Amino acid sequence: MATISPVQRGLEDVVALESRICFIDGHEGRLIYQGYDIRELAARSTFEEVAYLLWYGRLPTATQLAELRARFGALRPLPPPVVDLIRRMPTDATPMDVLRTTVSALALFEPEEGKPGASSIGGAQRLTAALPTILGVFHRHRTGMPDLAPRPDLSQAAYLLYALLDRDPTELDARAVDVALILHADHELNASTFAARVTASTLSDLYSAVTSAVGTLKGPLHGGANERVMEMLDEIGTPDRAEAVVHQKLAQHERIMGFGHRVYKVEDPRATILREWSRRIGEERGNTAYFEMLRKVEEVVHREKGLYPNVDLYSGSIYSLLGIPHDLFTPIFAASRVSGWTAHVLEEYQDLRLIRPTAKYVGPTDLAYVPIQDRPG
Ligand code: ACO
Repeated sequence: MATISPVQRGLEDVVALESRICFIDGHEGRLIYQGYDIRELAARSTFEEVAYLLWYGRLPTATQLAELRARFGALRPLPPPVVDLIRRMPTDATPMDVLRTTVSALALFEPEEGKPGASSIGGAQRLTAALPTILGVFHRHRTGMPDLAPRPDLSQAAYLLYALLDRDPTELDARAVDVALILHADHELNASTFAARVTASTLSDLYSAVTSAVGTLKGPLHGGANERVMEMLDEIGTPDRAEAVVHQKLAQHERIMGFGHRVYKVEDPRATILREWSRRIGEERGNTAYFEMLRKVEEVVHREKGLYPNVDLYSGSIYSLLGIPHDLFTPIFAASRVSGWTAHVLEEYQDLRLIRPTAKYVGPTDLAYVPIQDRPG
């Protein structure tokens, strides 16, 4: 029997491919998109600029950026049958399930956009423009808000807020979401991006790759953690109860959501930036309870377990203060990460090799087949 390498459970530390899109230095706590440090992008850039950077590998000129913004605006409306489909979905459906099913359905109406190859940049832009619309149409349907009117004038961040809340956001609120979208746009071979690349590596289409990615992001060990953080804060209630609740969870060997990371051995730089935004939005709203609870949780988890916060710890507190329901937090993550997923799919098409690892078989090999009538009952 051929010898095989030792099993790397969870593919930890396995280098699966080369990529120019994103670099994480887990020991220094650095995150780089196409050569640019996330801290500088979060301070000075916009989501549109970052999406362009991820797809094309360079920052846009003013004209290119204006063209992309106009393109997003034009691509926001969904085909009418897709709007109908969303309006027929159960109002108690999970928004991540709605997103997954609708991304898949969109492919039926735009098969050309998703075809493998360099031309699927059209599909990348289409999906990035459409995700806030999908969420807006569904959220308005389930809450009885007015139908979503086209707003090509708004940035992606402002449009996302408008689609969900039916009002024009303030500059500060839109900027908070813009920064969150920048920070979530890509993260190397995280589970959902890997799922997208595995799908693309079979020469399947872009929409199938993004459908795989949405399903993967949904899990609480990945994108779903931000919603669970808010459940924990609801359970804690007030900052003075934070220590006791965290101790109780740790004693029951529960994972504390929003902490730990496969790659970062120090604080996730995205958490550092979002912590500051959580404080800022809390102070602006005159409600710093979430911020104070999270600071206390951080202190206890670090003291007891030596764990650092990840990107999911603070994002939910910001979205909650903006008035966004908890079950839309992971979909908002998707509305940003779709730019990274599609950038990786485009890269996969450029340098394609079927992704197909191997497993160490640990079962028997020489069992004799027993006819059904002879098997013990
Ligand atoms: N709370 C409590 N203990 C933890 C946590 C946590 N959040 N994270 C890791 N640990 C402990 C584990 O129990 C384990 O301890 P043990 O060795 O005594 O059993 C040890 O740290 C290592 O944990 P692993 O699960 O092996 O680490 P892995 O790299 O596989 O996990 C993960 C990374 C899944 C993110 C993990 O830290 C976790 O479950 N965190 C909570 C969920 C979360 O916040 N997910 C969002 C991640 S960021 C993102 O995906 C966008």
